[in-house]
Amino acid sequence: MNHDTEKKPVDVLRQRDDVIRYWEELTDYYLEFGTTIQAGVFRTPDFDGYSLEASNHAFLSRAGLQSGEVVLDAGCGVGGPCLYAATHIPDLEIHGITISPYQAKIAQRLIDNSPVSDRVHVHIGDYHELPFPDGMFDRVLFLESAGYSLQFKLLFSEIARVLRVGGSIYIKDVFCREGELSAVEAEEMAEFRRITVCGIPTMTQVVSALKASGFSSLWALNITPLVITKPREAEFGLPRFRTFSNLPVVWGEIIARRPPV
Ligand SMILES: C[S@@+](CC[C@H](N)C(=O)[O-])C[C@H]1O[C@@H](n2cnc3c(N)ncnc32)[C@H](O)[C@@H]1O
Repeated sequence: MNHDTEKKPVDVLRQRDDVIRYWEELTDYYLEFGTTIQAGVFRTPDFDGYSLEASNHAFLSRAGLQSGEVVLDAGCGVGGPCLYAATHIPDLEIHGITISPYQAKIAQRLIDNSPVSDRVHVHIGDYHELPFPDGMFDRVLFLESAGYSLQFKLLFSEIARVLRVGGSIYIKDVFCREGELSAVEAEEMAEFRRITVCGIPTMTQVVSALKASGFSSLWALNITPLVITKPREAEFGLPRFRTFSNLPVVWGEIIARRPPV
């Protein structure tokens, strides 16, 4: 499976079902590592190891979240980053949406047991068709979740709809590296996409789709040197785990603004 804005509806529906099944099967395994479900996390100056807590701390300032904002976390997993953000930023209201009913149930339990339950909300749904009014959000976050989309044109016009004028989108994700892939790289990439049921576009594909949807002030940075991946031993037990020797992926960060109409 590869990313393509012109995918046939049948491919899109099949992939949606695959994503729901994937998270039903694997969410409990990821929860052994914590409630933030990301393959690569930020290193910080104070801590050079793999720490979801330190990474969430770094992400808050990189995404520039501010007190008083209303934020959408698109593809929110079990709500770890939502809860971290609401706990550390006063008056932040955050809505997470996941396509996985299984994850949403766990997220709701975590929210109910947190002291910020009045400011964190979880929804079940597809981020291509959001159950929110126009201009509701100051920011939209995609934390290792945008790459699942096979329909960027639809996705970013929907995100532009729910963002207020001047609001911004923050994407942090795994991307396929730019340029020609060797035969081994192409084989591993295809297998990685199949296992993870994720389209894994290049950064250029995402930036072009954002521009085509009218986003401006684009910032796109290869953040691979700032990221540390899960230690290998932490992957044991994951049913779909396999090792890759030449996987052509990079981590990237993209920020863009919804300009005035
Ligand atoms: C790797 S997890 C990241 C979870 C979360 N952002 C975090 O950092 O903990 C990917 C998430 O994207 C969600 N996702 C994938 N496709 C989606 C879609 N079409 N609509 C909503 N959520 C989607 C999955 O359900 C899952 O929650």
